[in-house]
Amino acid sequence: MGSSLREKVVVVTGAGGGLGRAVALRMAAEGASVVVNDVGAALDGSGSDAGPAQSVVTEIEAAGGTAVANTDSVAGWDSARSIVATAVDTFGRIDAVVNNAGIVRDRMFFTMTEQEWRSVIDVHLHGSFFVSRAASEHFKAQRSGAYVHMTSTSGLIGNIGQANYAAAKLGIVGLSRIIAGDMERYGVRSNCIAPFAWSRMTASIPTDTPEQKDRVEKLKRMEPEKVAPLAAYLVSPVSDVTGQIFSVRANEVYLMSQHRPVRTMHRDGGWDVEAIADDLIPALRPSFTPLQVTTDVVSWDPV
Ligand code: NAI
Repeated sequence: MGSSLREKVVVVTGAGGGLGRAVALRMAAEGASVVVNDVGAALDGSGSDAGPAQSVVTEIEAAGGTAVANTDSVAGWDSARSIVATAVDTFGRIDAVVNNAGIVRDRMFFTMTEQEWRSVIDVHLHGSFFVSRAASEHFKAQRSGAYVHMTSTSGLIGNIGQANYAAAKLGIVGLSRIIAGDMERYGVRSNCIAPFAWSRMTASIPTDTPEQKDRVEKLKRMEPEKVAPLAAYLVSPVSDVTGQIFSVRANEVYLMSQHRPVRTMHRDGGWDVEAIADDLIPALRPSFTPLQVTTDVVSWDPV
């Protein structure tokens, strides 16, 4: 057991399984009291089950740690407030939030329904805002606090059939960046992690082609436990890091780039369509971002 989070209180959303469970166990092993939040939903967000959150609490307690279960949804303003209230009511304070709860409703963009769009945005983007916002009142008053938000290379790089999920996950990157700026004056930090981990979420990736099958076999080697130490570091008082995006894949940790101008061209008197076609685009084209998916960019096996 470490002690980097001794006397700290950490909320981990969606912690009944997968990455959230691994993060909650690590936080507790580092000495934190943990609110294990999970509605116990199916992968597509349907249903609820108090079992997963409670069973992770039991695991933490069996290992000598301190935790309490909460089964409220991150996706509502009031229910998110009650997740944060559980931390304050049970442990007297809140020091960190890990926005990890998530669902997937994959569909090609051109057939995606309103419900598939809204439900994914609700849990990821609205949920991350609601829980963060509820905690911000405590963080501001005590002039300390830290956020970790789980984003995805689906948004950062690209993936097929995840318009809802990618939009939500890039939205979370924007949310994190602005939280970091707005709350810097209160000593509050905010960072993102784009995890690679074998979980029921990655198990939903289609395996229709040999390439997809091969990809999934590699994904199985990426243990959720490998992501947890970075999450623990980022919320711990030893860290001064804020406004960054990391990725973790087995034993690799990546620092991801963030959008900045890559090239600029000036034209006296402004641009017209012809000049854009003839001068601007040929000048910029060598710097265009190719239409790639994550596996094109991170093409090597997990190490
Ligand atoms: P998971 O499906 O095992 O865990 C997500 C948890 O969130 C579930 O236990 C579910 O019950 C809970 N949940 C769903 N809706 C909720 C709500 N409204 N309120 C509270 N809890 C809710 O998935 P996994 O893989 O552990 O994913 C965790 C996070 O990491 C997600 O945000 C996911 O998008 C992200 N991520 C995962 C990747 C991976 O490789 N596994 C890749 C990129 C991102």
